[in-house]
Amino acid sequence: MRCDTDFLIDYTKMFTNKTIIITGASSGIGKMLAIRLAEKRMKLVIAARDKQRLEDVAKVCRSKGSEAVVVVADVANKKACKKIVDEAVNTFGGIDILVNNAGITMWADFETVSNLEALEQIMQVNFFGSMYLTHFALPYLIQSKGQIVGVSSLTGKTGIPTRSIYAASKHAMAGFFDSLRIELKEKGVAVTMIYPGFVSSEVRERALNGEGIPLGKSPVMEKEVMTVEECVRLMLPVIEKRKRELVMTTRAKVGLWLKMFAPEITDNIALKAIKKGK
Ligand SMILES: NC(=O)c1ccc[n+]([C@@H]2O[C@H](COP(=O)([O-])OP(=O)(O)OC[C@H]3O[C@@H](n4cnc5c(N)ncnc54)[C@H](OP(=O)(O)O)[C@@H]3O)[C@@H](O)[C@H]2O)c1
Repeated sequence: MRCDTDFLIDYTKMFTNKTIIITGASSGIGKMLAIRLAEKRMKLVIAARDKQRLEDVAKVCRSKGSEAVVVVADVANKKACKKIVDEAVNTFGGIDILVNNAGITMWADFETVSNLEALEQIMQVNFFGSMYLTHFALPYLIQSKGQIVGVSSLTGKTGIPTRSIYAASKHAMAGFFDSLRIELKEKGVAVTMIYPGFVSSEVRERALNGEGIPLGKSPVMEKEVMTVEECVRLMLPVIEKRKRELVMTTRAKVGLWLKMFAPEITDNIALKAIKKGK
């Protein structure tokens, strides 16, 4: 929570020597976040499924002077989530920040969806994975008066066509973490939610179609959307100052404001963005 004496706090030192778990750190936003935090000498626990990619990220982080531990884990699996937390505690003695960033998406009109398991998989990774990790990390976060960061999406704030199940998983994250924020306030644990718009990464290449098969090619003009560097640049001060949330783009801020009294205009903005691919 912000207070009148906040200006006295040197936020640039808030990260130094703290232990942070970042899921989905083998690629995109999570990878860039790990690298930027390594520059701030954080103790990093980076998790995802691709061991080689994680090792490559860890190498970069270590070259910047930070300690980095790799945990190969599928966050859809409860035991794997416990393993991530155990590794952090056994190696560094506690946890200060948990970043629930691992995520997958689907890009399909709901009427074309034939693979119901694919729908469950999206929910399992994006929502249940974040919830399992938070469950196992919570005693340590309470001990450290730490912070939970949830990487949601604008689809966690408003419905977007072609993204219904993804939007459901990100709305679920928002409801869960907004509730936890209130529960944990008196225990000194902050909850920060991040709502990016389009960010250029592999997420859409990997997005599942209605049959549960990766698209292989992004339907978005990746060169014209926000870079991961910019996304992480915007995230860092918000995490550092333990703010409540970050909505990233002006279009999103205007759209969410309009939603309060003219929601059909916001629906049209969402439809246009999907049709234009940016
Ligand atoms: N890019 C965007 O436009 C955008 C916009 C809004 C929100 N977001 C959110 O930002 C987060 C990061 O996405 P990104 O854009 O950086 O995409 P990305 O480049 O595809 O990265 C996703 C990361 O999640 C990991 N992951 C996927 N499934 C996993 C699983 N079952 N267990 C563990 N790790 C898993 C991937 O690693 P492995 O494959 O190695 O497991 C990868 O490291 C996601 O939550 C996404 O929903 C992205």
